[in-house]
Amino acid sequence: MKKCITILLAVAAVLVFILPAFSQEDITEIKDPSFGKLQRPAVPFMHDEHNEKAGLDGCLPCHHEGIEDGELIEGDPVTCVDCHDVKTDDGSMNLKEAYHKQCITCHEEAKKGPVACGECHVK
Ligand code: HEC
Ligand code: HEC
Ligand code: HEC
Ligand code: HEC
Repeated sequence: MKKCITILLAVAAVLVFILPAFSQEDITEIKDPSFGKLQRPAVPFMHDEHNEKAGLDGCLPCHHEGIEDGELIEGDPVTCVDCHDVKTDDGSMNLKEAYHKQCITCHEEAKKGPVACGECHVK
């Protein structure tokens, strides 16, 4: 019995630490540690608030797993660096370019939201 409680406590402790990392309401900025030392300030991004204001109901275009016939296919909401490497050596889109392309393209098309460096990388 004692052992059982110890295991339960351990599981609870692990959940307390893991759950917030997967909860998108808690995301307030984008600061991927894979970049190492940042050249620019991290980007404020209130996940749910941003998407509500922008009127984005679904999880596309942001969370996808590939493209078919020119359309992005929805994928699990995981961190971008899982699929877009910080450095690519074949000239393909790297992580920084993936972020820029996704965020800036939509802001340009919507004619709303920041498009200049200092508006996203706020000091
Ligand atoms: C719409 C918002 C947006 C705009 C506009 C934007 N960026 Fe970014 N940028 C991002 C996001 C998001 C990341 C990923 C941030 C992270 O994980 O720290 C990023 C990452 C970067 C990185 C790699 C991380 C680092 O700091 O070393 C650099 C360098 C960068 N941006 C420079 C620029 C420059 C220069 C401009 C203007 C020409 C610019 N960005 C415009 C959103 C933006
Ligand atoms: C405007 C773009 C955008 C939309 C729309 C969006 N997200 Fe996200 N989401 C992000 C970004 C950016 C991150 C942070 C990725 C990172 O830090 O690597 C993120 C992170 C997450 C994470 C945490 C992932 C992890 O492993 O850390 C979850 C969960 C999540 N989003 C769920 C959702 C769900 C569910 C929807 C649809 C209802 C959604 N998101 C819509 C951009 C978006
Ligand atoms: C499960 C893997 C996976 C994840 C996670 C993922 N992507 Fe992608 N993404 C792809 C694939 C595959 C493509 C299509 C091939 C390519 O252009 O690299 C793609 C394409 C793109 C494109 C080009 C879209 C177009 O219309 O040409 C952008 C921009 C992009 N991803 C940004 C992001 C951002 C930002 C995130 C995190 C919010 C993210 N991706 C998460 C796999 C992923
Ligand atoms: C599919 C469209 C779309 C994508 C993708 C998108 N945005 Fe936005 N964003 C918007 C719209 C629309 C607004 C303007 C909302 C308003 O105020 O009406 C906006 C506004 C913002 C603002 C202003 C403050 C706020 O929260 O309203 C910031 C900062 C921002 N976006 C950052 C980002 C970053 C960083 C990314 C990439 C991770 C991103 N956005 C991706 C549509 C998008």
